[in-house]
Amino acid sequence: MGRAKKVVLAYSGGVDTSVCIPYLKQEWGVEEVITLAADLGQGDELEPVREKALKSGASISLVADAQESFVTDYAFPALKANALYENRYPLSTALARPLIAKLLVEAAVEYGADAVAHGCTGKGNDQVRFDVSIAALNPDLKVLAPAREWGMSREQTIAYGEQFGIPAPVKKSSPYSIDRNLLGRSIEAGPLEDPWTEPLEEIYQMTKAIADTPDTPAYVEIGFEQGIPVSLDDQVLAPVALVTALNERVGQHGIGRIDMVENRLVGIKSREIYEVPALSVLIQAHRDLESLTLTADVTHYKRGIEETYSQMIYNGLWYSPLKAALDAFVNETQKRVSGVVRVKLFKGVATIVGRKSDKTLYTPDLATYGADDQFDHKAAEGFIYIWGLPTRVWSQRTRE
Ligand code: ARG
Repeated sequence: MGRAKKVVLAYSGGVDTSVCIPYLKQEWGVEEVITLAADLGQGDELEPVREKALKSGASISLVADAQESFVTDYAFPALKANALYENRYPLSTALARPLIAKLLVEAAVEYGADAVAHGCTGKGNDQVRFDVSIAALNPDLKVLAPAREWGMSREQTIAYGEQFGIPAPVKKSSPYSIDRNLLGRSIEAGPLEDPWTEPLEEIYQMTKAIADTPDTPAYVEIGFEQGIPVSLDDQVLAPVALVTALNERVGQHGIGRIDMVENRLVGIKSREIYEVPALSVLIQAHRDLESLTLTADVTHYKRGIEETYSQMIYNGLWYSPLKAALDAFVNETQKRVSGVVRVKLFKGVATIVGRKSDKTLYTPDLATYGADDQFDHKAAEGFIYIWGLPTRVWSQRTRE
């Protein structure tokens, strides 16, 4: 008896996930492996990937076009929460995992599989995100993670695959481990494992080196409706088109690179490089529009929610009751977050230089230092007396 009869495997076309196919069948007695490759805007041709799965022994090779759902159902909710893990990483890789898990679970139901599988190792966050998301969506499905158990080195994995007709990588394989989708690229390992080593320029693809960026600034006006970006420079764009276009415009100016040491859920610190051009500027612009349209107390309270929300995405709890409750809070706050933010792009830096909204709470009559000032200055005196009263009493008593 094998560990499962019919398995849907998350498939990328790389050596590791390809080797998972014969491994599941030969070593774990799986009768049938169906692969599923999700198009999340990673830029790979998916037809060769589809064929490679069949050559590697898959009975059915599925390709899911998931870009729109990725942006609409995962990236934009995170944007509304200004989600940044450890205040810096916009979760571009992490957000893809619950979506892939959902696609796997749906395919398992459609094809009558009793398990799903992924190629994650035992050291990363992604295994947690897959396993927990799958459990949340269908607790009866088994999850198989061969690479967590097989204990093969890279060379051994390639040699194992060759026995089953999986070709060794043609190019000398890159020392880096790279995850890519429409939102960005995550690059780790190889020389980057030394946190003191500056990344080589060769690792970047979505963002230009500062030396190659234009010598004059560019501007982009991002329009938001209820917290969601809907236009660039007055041109209304669908979600995928908007993110694609903004990646290009922002990346031209070398904006969106992050070099950080982060704390993984499994207890390891890891050095990771991200390039997330559009998403980092969208978060910056969105937060700025909130400064115009949310009250002070909502803004301040929301910061705590954002922190929790970001940790939940990072830690694999996308499908969880707390996350759903936080979504309800965040969505309530976004009802008036509509307007336009003007961003200046220059030499690796995005600067917000203007914002406007029909829903603005900014009140010129109150803010002005000019003659039109409507603010009641005398009222400030009484307010300050009462505001400072506890401090005044404390001071008197501690002097006695
Ligand atoms: N550290 C990031 C995360 O946990 C990205 C991991 C992606 N993998 C990679 N090969 N860089 O979300």
